[in-house]
Amino acid sequence: MPKNFIITSETELRSQVKRWRVKGKTIALVPTMGALHAGHLSLIAKAKQHADKIVASIYVNETQFAEGEDLDTYPRDHANDCEMLRAAGCDLVYMPKKMYADNHATTINIAGPALGLESEARAHFFAGVALIVTKLFNRVQPDLAVFGEKDYQQLLTIRRLTADLDMPVRILAAPIIREADGLAMSSRNKYFGDEAREIAGRLNVIMQKCAKKISQGADIKISTDKACQQILDAGFEHVDYMAVADANSLALLTGHLTDTPARLLVAAHCQGVRLIDNCALIR
Ligand code: PAF
Repeated sequence: MPKNFIITSETELRSQVKRWRVKGKTIALVPTMGALHAGHLSLIAKAKQHADKIVASIYVNETQFAEGEDLDTYPRDHANDCEMLRAAGCDLVYMPKKMYADNHATTINIAGPALGLESEARAHFFAGVALIVTKLFNRVQPDLAVFGEKDYQQLLTIRRLTADLDMPVRILAAPIIREADGLAMSSRNKYFGDEAREIAGRLNVIMQKCAKKISQGADIKISTDKACQQILDAGFEHVDYMAVADANSLALLTGHLTDTPARLLVAAHCQGVRLIDNCALIR
């Protein structure tokens, strides 16, 4: 690894960023929780198109996990992650050991696009994401940051957060990267055995079919109800939601698609693994 490529200390991080700033370099941040895959590398590639220096952070953020979720078992392979980031042309990996002081007492109460959908199942999630993203932005002070559309509600939540709190960070979105059968890439896909992995691949196929029907004028509720049943028939044990929402506000839409840009979003459980996915609806 190049010297100073992996940094764990906040002071060293700030010094390196300052050195780049003095030279007039622009800086992009790609926040991650590690267990990297091609989807993450596409975020690095996007960052490289828009900034001189790329910082990737790896931190499994405890505040976005609720009791009983997979914080302890979340896949961790930091050596491999750093090698992938180096090969992708990242300039610095920020890998803090700890992000919260023992007496940390501040929370961020975010509403707007954070309400509903994911928040119904994971009430704690966006407050935790908002907190860690704010702290990372404060430490790295990037000009821009890149987030994947795979976590579409997270992307809109972070856009709202940065706008509402006047954070001088441009938020860029990168499209979903999919496996050959269409399954959206995710660190949690590592949890699947062969049988579950095959079932998981059906989610995107069903979602795309449903999106096509709605785009062609079918009723939203009838189409999403049918798709939910197809997901269950494919072997998923539960569907948390399958919904059409305004692509900017995430307000839920019913009836028929109009000219309002819309997104179809789904969350479902496949043999104990919770999957999320989404796609644009084009009229
Ligand atoms: O999308 C993720 O991997 C995480 O939610 C993020 C943005 C790195 C915050 O921990």
